[in-house]
Amino acid sequence: MSAPSLEIPLRLSEAMTSPLEPLKRGDPCTAVILGAGGDLTRRKLMPALYHLLHDGLLHDDFSVVGAAREDLTDQGFRDKMKQAILESEEIGHVPDATWDHFAQRIHYVRGDMTDPNFFAAVSARVAEFERESGQSRGRLFYLALPPSVYGTAVELLSSTGLVPRMDDPAQRPWARVIIEKPFGSSLDTARALNQTVLKRLAEHQVYRIDHYLGKETVQNLLVLRFANSIFEPIWNRQHIHHVQITAAETVGVEHRAGYYEQAGVVRDMFQNHLLQLLALTAMEPPVAFRAEEVRDEKVKVLRAIRPITAATIDQFAVRGQYGPGAIDGAAVPGYRQEDRVAPRSTTPTYAALRFLVDNWRWQGVPFYVRSGKRMARRATEIAIQFQRPPHLMFQQDAGRSFAANVLVIRIQPNEGVSLCFEIKIPGVDVRTTSVQMDFGYGNAFGSTDHSAYETLLLDAMVGDGTLYARSDQVEAAWALVDPVVQAWAAEAPRDFPNYVSGSWGPGIADAFIARDGARWREP
Ligand code: BG6
Repeated sequence: MSAPSLEIPLRLSEAMTSPLEPLKRGDPCTAVILGAGGDLTRRKLMPALYHLLHDGLLHDDFSVVGAAREDLTDQGFRDKMKQAILESEEIGHVPDATWDHFAQRIHYVRGDMTDPNFFAAVSARVAEFERESGQSRGRLFYLALPPSVYGTAVELLSSTGLVPRMDDPAQRPWARVIIEKPFGSSLDTARALNQTVLKRLAEHQVYRIDHYLGKETVQNLLVLRFANSIFEPIWNRQHIHHVQITAAETVGVEHRAGYYEQAGVVRDMFQNHLLQLLALTAMEPPVAFRAEEVRDEKVKVLRAIRPITAATIDQFAVRGQYGPGAIDGAAVPGYRQEDRVAPRSTTPTYAALRFLVDNWRWQGVPFYVRSGKRMARRATEIAIQFQRPPHLMFQQDAGRSFAANVLVIRIQPNEGVSLCFEIKIPGVDVRTTSVQMDFGYGNAFGSTDHSAYETLLLDAMVGDGTLYARSDQVEAAWALVDPVVQAWAAEAPRDFPNYVSGSWGPGIADAFIARDGARWREP
């Protein structure tokens, strides 16, 4: 039974009733998207850039160059991008004047990296904008390319002089590279890619993207923890029983079987997004909200996590794969029946992992982290479950026990924070029940209409890497998940498919968490 909810009337501070002046605006720059013919450019990057311009967050001295194989003119590319922006969930309506303002900044170069003239053509375009600009104009390259060519792309950007190495972060004009995920497919490949990249570029020029870090509520986690004084004193093993981090999706593998069959849920969701959420939840307060300080603290958490090995995997991890079922009342196929999936595929589409953080703050507090496709509901959340009261002096009705306090940070959808606690039911008897105090972003601020990519692109344009992954973080995360991936690859599951599409995952996951006297929350 879900707890009754208390609507808390919100009174926003004065500052919030009028529009806020932006604290940052992009530097003058040319953004070049390599691989601009793909989905990412249409669905995420161009809508994000358009919205930044619409909100006045791009510098007037800004151009974006799409580079792809298709034979298109500047105008042809603009038309395609306009269509994409009109279709984008976040935007929809595009006023003519704003579009014209944006369109004149969009350009196109045809070709790809196998073409020896390609980088010369990109260089010529970039140089032309820089001449016209007459001021120090940065260069931002976005690798929207297949992961197998990230290393080669960085080598070519460097050898052609498009992105020179800059040891001094203050050097101007700057040159930076954003690298999409996945960054490597194992610890070894991630290390090799870091070596290739860092031979050519300084760490501060490299922006390894994890779109989760650009989500509003993920950043809010830091504000919640460190801009309030009531949470930090109880954010530790004395008061917290365990933490549950859930990323449940209702979608299946969609058209990505080629990638997903190789990746599976642990590489796809745990190595990046979920370990980032865990690190933000568990880290010590950084001395400043700056890239190095925040990333130092996050990497310390990852290094403190007890390694999971082939010998201990059964105590620390369970896996699953969806079978046929129904989502929102509509029948859906099982994973093995999806297009381009092997009929006896052993790729996990669900995993639940128990992480133990071996430090003073978290000793003995399990972090249960789970993610799955085709689950009952789309929900990403972090639930902090506090200890039960040490002694219960109130009489309970038979069959009812106290619920522990839970603080839930809802990452998506219905972004917000809720706190569950016990109160007295009105009446002459002293009886208790659980209630929920709820803060919803939508109610308080109206819809948050900007995407994670906007935040992240703008940060790269101002040189702020706080919400990007550093090389040591990426490797520390791979070091944690690699043994799980390998142990599972070495021993084929006998029970796949083991959960019905539209359920909360395999039954073994319930027994798994019950060992610590806990139960999965239903988000
Ligand atoms: C991506 C994964 O990184 O994140 C996808 O490759 C997953 O498999 C997606 O669906 C989830 O992102 P979001 O923002 O929809 O929660």
